Amino acid sequence: MEILTASKLIKSYGKKTAVNDVSFTINVGDFIGLLGPNGAGKTTTIKMLTGLAKEDSGKIFYNGINFKSDPIECKRLIGIVPQNSNVDRDLTAYENLYMQAILYSIPVNERKKKINEILDFAGLIEYKDKQVKTFSGGMKRRLTLIRALLHQPKILYLDEPTVGLDPQIRRSMWELILKINQQKSTSILLTTHYIEEAERLCGKVMIINNGKIIIEGSPDELKKGIGHFVLEEFVDDAIKEDFFETKETALNHLKDCVNSCKIREVSLEDVFIKLTGKRINA
Ligand SMILES: Nc1ncnc2c1ncn2[C@@H]1O[C@H](COP(=O)(O)OP(=O)(O)OP(=O)(O)O)[C@@H](O)[C@H]1O
Ligand SMILES: [Mg+2]
Repeated sequence: MEILTASKLIKSYGKKTAVNDVSFTINVGDFIGLLGPNGAGKTTTIKMLTGLAKEDSGKIFYNGINFKSDPIECKRLIGIVPQNSNVDRDLTAYENLYMQAILYSIPVNERKKKINEILDFAGLIEYKDKQVKTFSGGMKRRLTLIRALLHQPKILYLDEPTVGLDPQIRRSMWELILKINQQKSTSILLTTHYIEEAERLCGKVMIINNGKIIIEGSPDELKKGIGHFVLEEFVDDAIKEDFFETKETALNHLKDCVNSCKIREVSLEDVFIKLTGKRINA
């Protein structure tokens, strides 16, 4: 069942077309990644889908409801975690969540229970009365994440949720995000420029470049499209890459390499390079 249908979205800032004819659907329970380099149009897409930016043209439907005709009803279905955390540092975790409960008109008699439940879900219950300014970066990010869940949205937008976190904290965020998708049956659209994040988390990935989705599919499907293994040969200052279906065929070609070389598994970065000639994280 479709929770979101976005069709032919276009948004320009002056002469720059940030999002150029983007269409996709999200079904109940989907975990979709919007993967692309800096400036590709990820945040602008999310901003249009959440009403933070007005599209120049295109249509957005939530559960069959036109976003334009009933934005309030649609916004009830949406949770958003913006690229820059915006929790109030001087309030405690509990107070931040309480503000959100008021904002989303959660009934007074349910607020305390819902807030405690969600703090527990994210492993933050013991810090609930601490001011956010005493939190680590990872804790702050967890709080921003659960704050967006308090009104039980059907679809959650995560804009670069782990940017700037160290690898260990990033992994614990991944666990929490997967738990939200699985246990709360919340559909997720996550933007990232981390290849590994998209590969690990997303059932389907849409690769965006210059405001256009250039390819989409499951990480496996996308990788299969170019082969499973890469033979890299270091020639002068450049790396020559050849793609193979199996490790055996790659190994067979290894014999012909005169320079130093290595065999590795294909990644979504290779898919991006093949399509654009550039790296995602250049
Ligand atoms: N408010 C704005 N005014 C002018 N140009 C903008 C504005 N917001 C975005 N842009 C431009 O639109 C393009 C897409 O930006 P967007 O923020 O959507 O990219 P992104 O994929 O989220 O990038 P990042 O990975 O850096 O967050 C960029 O060229 C950016 O400079
Ligand atoms: Mg962005």
